[in-house]
Amino acid sequence: MKFSLRSLVTLIGAAMADLDPIVIKGSEFFYSSNNTQFYRRGVAYQRMSNASALIKTMIHLKLTFTHRTPATVPDPLANAAACKHNIPILQELRTNVIRTYSINASADHSECMKLLSEAGIYLISDLSSPIHLCSHYTSVIDELSQYSNTIDFFAGNEVANTVATTDGSAYVKAAVHDMKKYIQEKGYRSMGVGYATADVSTIREDLANFFDCSSDSQSMDLWGYSIYSWCSDSSYSASGYQDRTEEFRNYTVLFPLLTTSVSKMKDFTSYSNEIATASPTGTHKASYTPTNAVLQSCPTVGTDWKARPPLCLLLRNQACVTASTMSPGCVVSDDILASK
Ligand SMILES: *[C@@H]1O[C@H](CO)[C@@H](O)[C@H](O)[C@H]1NC(C)=O
Ligand SMILES: *[C@@H]1O[C@H](CO)[C@@H](O)[C@H](O)[C@H]1NC(C)=O
Ligand SMILES: *[C@@H]1O[C@H](CO)[C@@H](O)[C@H](O)[C@H]1NC(C)=O
Ligand SMILES: *[C@@H]1O[C@H](CO)[C@@H](O)[C@H](O)[C@H]1NC(C)=O
Repeated sequence: MKFSLRSLVTLIGAAMADLDPIVIKGSEFFYSSNNTQFYRRGVAYQRMSNASALIKTMIHLKLTFTHRTPATVPDPLANAAACKHNIPILQELRTNVIRTYSINASADHSECMKLLSEAGIYLISDLSSPIHLCSHYTSVIDELSQYSNTIDFFAGNEVANTVATTDGSAYVKAAVHDMKKYIQEKGYRSMGVGYATADVSTIREDLANFFDCSSDSQSMDLWGYSIYSWCSDSSYSASGYQDRTEEFRNYTVLFPLLTTSVSKMKDFTSYSNEIATASPTGTHKASYTPTNAVLQSCPTVGTDWKARPPLCLLLRNQACVTASTMSPGCVVSDDILASK
């Protein structure tokens, strides 16, 4: 078979644009080609809509089981012109992963994903959306799994930030389970599904235990930790990052710390200076034996915690969950459906 010059060029082009997939072993990430450890240096890449607090609330997955009017939260990877402009700036920050919060699964992401890939930047994306929350998850996975630089997904973002809002955690746990299973069933390459949590001292331990309890299939693969205590002049220990890292040593999940988004106007220089000095030395995949294989005990439901592990998993193929569309024999505690 004879290749034309054009197809050869295309093949080489495609090969160059593909990034080395990242694989998960235990609680660490590795490059799939050479098994060296992958450390994330990331920023959130998302312009928030200025429309209203309502949209912000929904983005943060205050669970709603009714459809809302489509909101205009910009999909940051559907805007190729912005990607062209911004990705070089992200490179100045040695960025190797970005996080996006709002993906329109019907939009074309090929140009931005290619530019990211060429810049050596991986993607972690939230699955939620203000519209069609439940069915949206799988379509975002379908869309982004095509790109080798997609690493993993968040099935929820800071859903619980008080005791009263812990009930929604059951829904997120169900979503984590369903999406892990979906990725397997579709035969996609391995990509993690996790939860991005707020750091709230009163529910910190219960939250972590809840998402790492009951069964492996319901446990999140990664725990994104939004800690807003390292602002301006601080350090690993003074900010509390060290304590948080120590506390999570024994969990079975991956643990990327999430810093807040960076704007070139204000924080660019200080973040840039910090990240320039980060050069961790990693371990080799073959010589790493995961030790944290034991799940936690689920927190007791009571005055301090409101969610039970979901008894059945219902998100898939259902535009939205209501009592009348649940499968027969499926018992969902009121905690899951309560007044959402
Ligand atoms: C492993 O592969 C990654 C990406 O392909 C590369 O950046 C890194 O330098 C490699 N590490 C070693 C030790 O070869
Ligand atoms: C939102 O953006 C529009 C257009 O840029 C502007 O006119 C409006 O004042 C903004 N609203 C708020 C609440 O900032
Ligand atoms: C999603 O993308 C499609 C295709 O570009 C577009 O028609 C649709 O309006 C977009 N939806 C939203 C909510 O932006
Ligand atoms: C982690 O496990 C080790 C060994 O079981 C134990 O000594 C240590 O106290 C645990 N750390 C935390 C923070 O629970």
